Amino acid sequence: MTQNKILTGIKPTGTPHLGNYIGAIRPAICTSVQAHQQSFFFLADYHALIGCREPELLHASTRSIAACWLALGLDTDQALFYRQSDIPEIPQLCWILSCLAAKGLMNRAHAYKAQVHNNLEREEGDPDKGVTMGLYSYPVLMAADILLFQANRVPVGQDQVQHIEMARDIAGRFNHHYGHCFVLPEAVVADKGAVLNGLDGRKMSKSYNNVIPLFCSASQLRKLIMKIKTNSLAPGEPKDPDSCTLFQIFSAFNRDADALAHRRQQYADGAAWGTLKQELFEFLDDELKAPRAEYERLVADPAFMEEQLLRGAEKAREHTVPFMETVRRAVGIRALHP
Ligand code: TRP
Repeated sequence: MTQNKILTGIKPTGTPHLGNYIGAIRPAICTSVQAHQQSFFFLADYHALIGCREPELLHASTRSIAACWLALGLDTDQALFYRQSDIPEIPQLCWILSCLAAKGLMNRAHAYKAQVHNNLEREEGDPDKGVTMGLYSYPVLMAADILLFQANRVPVGQDQVQHIEMARDIAGRFNHHYGHCFVLPEAVVADKGAVLNGLDGRKMSKSYNNVIPLFCSASQLRKLIMKIKTNSLAPGEPKDPDSCTLFQIFSAFNRDADALAHRRQQYADGAAWGTLKQELFEFLDDELKAPRAEYERLVADPAFMEEQLLRGAEKAREHTVPFMETVRRAVGIRALHP
């Protein structure tokens, strides 16, 4: 049976929310323990630099995201867990790929296009105002992350699919010109059921400011759950669980059929929103208690996490150092003799 190489990058910005856990972290950790899978998860700190010029914030986010993944049960003996900046071969490959990637391809990248669009709307004289080379070549760095590990499956959110296609395009050009070297990666998009809604009923996302952080305090968690938008049906009136954010969150965390049937019955019986919110809070708080404590313990012990990350990078480089040598040779960069 062929082995799947699954790779995904986590941009260390802010702290993860419930939606990140259900949509990305939980499925990643689940697949990482399956047979015939090799998983690579890394903190994309060079990518984070594109949008964050506050050194302390970047550093704190990296620590926080590392602590989250470890607290949620990522087993670093099963999966390779490393920091992008600990793998010097990534920026090296990025340069080589930059020399193949068409500028016209990058012009179509949506993050860049959105910025240009904003500038034009605001009638700025320069459509490229605020566009750094980092933002512009974001997809090339991402291609390097993926191609360096010969990953064939890349779990990402819908917004990243274009970047994976660009990585395929760049890999294809390289293979065509220099001979086969890179595996063409495929995006794996979480199914719809794995997308959680936020406080206002739209997709939970930092950009909508409607998130529930995964590891906020119990009192903060309760406060946020109480804010989740519901309709104005009164106690006693039957309610529809399937269009309800509270039920959606509950069912994402609780997959026990009896518990779900019981909760559906409460909706049918017209339970009050206040009761349903309180019960969701109690359930979630109970679920998150242990990982929250572990998260706090880890954040307070950065030396332990540092060691884990360095060990991950060391294992990763057993592959990337020789592979990068092959890539350099393929393009004609090698010792003069012999
Ligand atoms: N760009 C991704 C995001 O914003 C993060 C990322 C960086 C990534 N490198 C990657 C994802 C490589 C998958 C593979 O979410």
